Amino acid sequence: MERMEDEKPKKKLTVYLLYCVSTAVIGSLQFGYNTGVINAPEQKLRRFFQNVSTERYGEPFSPGTNTMVWSFAVAIFSVGGMIGSFSVGAMVTKFGRRKSMLLNNILAIIGGSLMGLSVVTQSFEIIIVGRLIIGVFCGLCTGLTPMYVGEISPTAVRGAFGTLHQLGVVIGILVAQIFGLESLLGSDNLWPLLLALTILPAIVQTIMLPFCPESPRYLLIVLNQEEEARKALVRLRGCEDVSDDIQEMKEEGMKMAMEKKVTIAELFRSPNYRQPIIIAIILQLSQQLSGINAVFYYSTGIFDTAGVTQPIYATIGAGVVNTVFTVVSLFLVERAGRRTLHLIGLAGMAISALLMTISLSLVKTTPNLSYLAIVAVFAFVASFEMGPGPIPWFIVAELFSQGPRPAAMAISGFSNWTANFLVGLGFPKLEELCGPYVFIIFMVLLIMFFIFTYLRVPETKGRTFDDIAQGFASSAGKPATPLDPEAMVVSLPENKEPSPMSP
Ligand code: GLC
Repeated sequence: MERMEDEKPKKKLTVYLLYCVSTAVIGSLQFGYNTGVINAPEQKLRRFFQNVSTERYGEPFSPGTNTMVWSFAVAIFSVGGMIGSFSVGAMVTKFGRRKSMLLNNILAIIGGSLMGLSVVTQSFEIIIVGRLIIGVFCGLCTGLTPMYVGEISPTAVRGAFGTLHQLGVVIGILVAQIFGLESLLGSDNLWPLLLALTILPAIVQTIMLPFCPESPRYLLIVLNQEEEARKALVRLRGCEDVSDDIQEMKEEGMKMAMEKKVTIAELFRSPNYRQPIIIAIILQLSQQLSGINAVFYYSTGIFDTAGVTQPIYATIGAGVVNTVFTVVSLFLVERAGRRTLHLIGLAGMAISALLMTISLSLVKTTPNLSYLAIVAVFAFVASFEMGPGPIPWFIVAELFSQGPRPAAMAISGFSNWTANFLVGLGFPKLEELCGPYVFIIFMVLLIMFFIFTYLRVPETKGRTFDDIAQGFASSAGKPATPLDPEAMVVSLPENKEPSPMSP
């Protein structure tokens, strides 16, 4: 069975498809870059704020005000992300997927320019406005990229391609960590360039996008342009016969025509959507409330507490482990499946969180334990990338058919960014309160997410969008029975052939 699945997609992997996916994934790179970029130049930025204050008001900011301005510049990014991710649904429905990505780059260019001009204009306000705009841009990227990639990918490699979004994110973080080194762009004079560099990939993507097609699913199902959709598919699949894909989309479209327009409120009201939207939201929360960004925003401080002598290199080490394990996940996700990898990842993170707590609490008396701290943080990050990193971003596109997909992406993206904002803002305070035991909080949350995933999340590997939606629709008929993931896998056709439509 696995073999047969493997044979069909091989024919379908064309250079053109890879070109289109790579173009979209530049958006993921941008999200990662802007997530990671603010860490290294912290001291430079703080000094700049002081200089501006001295020049304007004759005295520097008080330490409290300086920290406030700094935290604001960091946190406003996630606020922008919340706005951007929430707007995804409206934007793609109005402009389509490709044009939305094109338009989004305008935001990157404006935001990047503002941040780049901060020193010239002696204004810290424009850094904050720039970070907000870049946040909106990244919020849109986290919806647009997985949606476009999910919609143009052949079913059998949809998970692997979906993981490419996360690969883009982690490479973006790593590039930002490396470029942020003092000897590269993290120096006193060059940090504005470090922040403005995001303009470059925006320009590259703007040049590449016109050669990509609009998503055939959008063309066929939303715009009803079958000929255009067929042409796009022929190029993407590299063969003339795309009737299977067209047929599958048509069935999805017909089903959608029978539903009324799916609003965000409707997602929660309709029994067909309630279960997948809850799963989508909880998976996104499991990603952020795992505590991953406590590591990515504050790892240097954590390593410092653990007595590591060169914490910045341990941080870059975490970035490397992060990237390597995303690649591992890329190869496993179509074999082991989404659900299994998510479970393995959550369990690994919970164990690592325990190890981190042990090492952080005992390092004062046993200095050698700082090595355990490094290993534990690396294992935490590696486990994250096995499942909780990549899977939530793309599984949302899989859990919903074309009609509810934009609204579902908006809601789940918004949940992700809100949780990201809360962890980013709350972690320093929690650390102050709990000391070395702070990761116990994440451990408990991780165990809860493990139980939820075990009980509720179905496997989506190798199944068409329509199959997956049908699975939820039929289980909604018997709401008292919890969804049995194994039963779903067995009872539904494994792939390609869409199941007959329900009346
Ligand atoms: C995911 C998260 C992001 C995090 C990154 C770390 O993409 O959404 O918040 O920083 O993984 O690799």
